[in-house]
Amino acid sequence: MAKKIKKIGILTGGGDCPGLNAVIRAVTKTAIGQHGLEVIGYKFGYRGLFLNDFEVLTSKRVSGIQHIGGTILYSSNKDNLFDYEVEEDGKTVKKDVSDVAVENMKKEGVDALIIIGGDGTLTSARDFARKGVKIIGVPKTIDNDLAVTDVTFGFNSAINVARDALDRLHTTAESHHRIMILEVMGRNAGWIALESGIAGSADVILIPEIPFSLDKIVDKVNSRHQRGLLFSIIVVAEGATFKDEDAVIQKIVADSPDPIRLGGIGNLLANRLEAKIPEHEVRNTVLGHLQRGGAPSTFDRILSTRYGVTAVNLLMDGRTGNMVALDGRHMTFVHLENVIGRNKQVNPTGELVQTAKSVGISFGD
Ligand code: F6P
Repeated sequence: MAKKIKKIGILTGGGDCPGLNAVIRAVTKTAIGQHGLEVIGYKFGYRGLFLNDFEVLTSKRVSGIQHIGGTILYSSNKDNLFDYEVEEDGKTVKKDVSDVAVENMKKEGVDALIIIGGDGTLTSARDFARKGVKIIGVPKTIDNDLAVTDVTFGFNSAINVARDALDRLHTTAESHHRIMILEVMGRNAGWIALESGIAGSADVILIPEIPFSLDKIVDKVNSRHQRGLLFSIIVVAEGATFKDEDAVIQKIVADSPDPIRLGGIGNLLANRLEAKIPEHEVRNTVLGHLQRGGAPSTFDRILSTRYGVTAVNLLMDGRTGNMVALDGRHMTFVHLENVIGRNKQVNPTGELVQTAKSVGISFGD
């Protein structure tokens, strides 16, 4: 007979995003209140599991955290325990230390884990599930690029921030008759740019899925000018590219499993655009980590709570090895084996892009 689950561990991995605390709260309250479990939270993601660094989570500890951004458990986007940097004989080597984590769980009597994270964090979750650890994954990322769930938590909060930034940029754009560019995050997916751009009345949306040409953007700006619209708003995803060019890399984080940090396309575009149409003043704003900070939106608080509650219930129903997911309006779950490596990008011919094009938004194609 399968061992009864009495104690669970939670961890948050990867970049922070609004809603992490709301999931931690929902998991803890449901686990304690509905199932009488003990709950601990590992600190700094998988690093805490390796170092056995944790805190006991009680209903009191998680009270009052739903509306707070970030994660009370801290996070890391560097610590992959299947390929982990350790010191051996005075040298730094990479090793699979996942057995240490499993031993730590046994030592503390932790029967199962709830892992909250994006692609990298959930890849390790899958690998722990393959080792026989009872796991439920919860899909997090502002980029919304995880396949098999309609929405990840954090995305809605991020597009609200980006949309608000576009609203604010309109003020200067109109007052000074400028072209205002907003560079947003999203890695290799254009969801943040696309959805904030539609909601924020952008004139041009540039996304990684549709390589763009400078001339098309110039055409768009000029045609607006001819109609007496003397300003333009452009939202560009950090992973968007000029036709036949590579994405602009801002930084390589060498010890990260996913080392490339994109960024800089907004500035490049501003320079090239101003060189081509010097009669227009162009300004670039990089929204950066503001998109990941602050309080989660109402939508994300509800989604995070639903994910957290469903994660615990799945665990108690014996459905381990799965990730919770949203399918339309319903909570569902997908096996972790079917989650990894299946990124979700914008369909360049899909309804959302067509909708944007129908209201006159250019994609520079
Ligand atoms: O995946 C979330 C994300 O914010 C991306 O949109 C962005 O490219 C990246 O993380 C930035 O990572 P870091 O936190 O290392 O700056």
